[in-house]
Amino acid sequence: MAPKNTTESINVLAHRFLWEPDDIVLTTVMEHHANLLPWRQKARVEYLPLDARGVVDVTQLAARLEQYQSRVKLVTLLGASNVTGYTPPIHAVARIAHQYHAEIMVDAAQLAPHAPIHMLSPDDPEHLDYVVLSGHKMYAPFGAGLLVGPRHRFSQGAPFIEGGGAVKFVTRDTVEWDDPPAREEAGSPNVIGAVAMATAAKTLMAMGMDNLETHERMLDHYLVEKLRAIPGLRILGNPEAMHADRIGVVSFVIERVPAMLVAAILGYEWGIGVRAGCFCAHPYLRQLLHISDRDADRIRQELRDDDGRHVPAAVRISLGFYNTIPEVDRVVVALTRIARQGNRGDYVRNAQTSEYEPRGIVEDYDWAFQF
Ligand SMILES: Cc1ncc(COP(=O)(O)O)c(C=O)c1O
Repeated sequence: MAPKNTTESINVLAHRFLWEPDDIVLTTVMEHHANLLPWRQKARVEYLPLDARGVVDVTQLAARLEQYQSRVKLVTLLGASNVTGYTPPIHAVARIAHQYHAEIMVDAAQLAPHAPIHMLSPDDPEHLDYVVLSGHKMYAPFGAGLLVGPRHRFSQGAPFIEGGGAVKFVTRDTVEWDDPPAREEAGSPNVIGAVAMATAAKTLMAMGMDNLETHERMLDHYLVEKLRAIPGLRILGNPEAMHADRIGVVSFVIERVPAMLVAAILGYEWGIGVRAGCFCAHPYLRQLLHISDRDADRIRQELRDDDGRHVPAAVRISLGFYNTIPEVDRVVVALTRIARQGNRGDYVRNAQTSEYEPRGIVEDYDWAFQF
């Protein structure tokens, strides 16, 4: 099916299960909000604990499934974290889920551009029942995504979005829904988006997903090693424990320099684009930054009063296949200076967006394109 993005895919799927009042969805605290909020509307959401190293505890998964048995309708987790880059053992999770007749959904939004995805045959105990992703994460334009799953899940009842294109026949009072996938694709399709997404996927595959993974892993290991050596910089999560089970996504904080300011300095003074904020994964960020219940309550209250000063934030570097070692070196030099002496220019925090805007910096990025 071709929804707009990962978020819409998960909402469509959540609509498709025939929920009973006691049903449970097992997930992890690491998830993007797209893979948390749609389930909360439908079932009781339980979080699989991470172990002391910060990785998914598969023994706990078996224990929960043993405890809840058929009440667990779905195990849903990300293929790669957009905060720490961690790639949980999705096929081991699938095997355990299937032993208890639960299905598994993998949110592959962050995995798709960085590593191969193997759904495997439905008779393989390690197969993935559902995979969702967004085209724009694979370097395609915004507006086209993917939901893959078994046809039977989508063949009963009304679709998530109703309208033309999803039907066989409509009278004044009745409707004969079309078969999937058309049933879930009401409305005029995003043809250009779908073609662009397919072209992006084919281009990545022609480059070889294994090659991209190897190159990005090399860059990631190099980056992590260099970041570790910067005094005052703390990487979130535990890249050593996650070991090879990572893609090139690294989030961190720098002592005494707000994350949003770090991002502004990197952008305005060094021409380096990073993301700063909570990355739509508030529960995970809260755990990684050790924010207490009391502080979380205080932040919530402040936000109601339009005061976002204490909302936690980190900085994230995302590596892609096009990045190079000299680029990693450059960001490391920049961060070393920021950690040592902060910003060169003068910045003003915008209370609405929490972003920092420079004053008196002459923007000249020509040098940035010499790499
Ligand atoms: C892991 C993960 N899941 C889901 C999403 C949501 O993707 P979209 O906004 O394209 O629906 C993102 C986006 O950042 C993501 O990183």
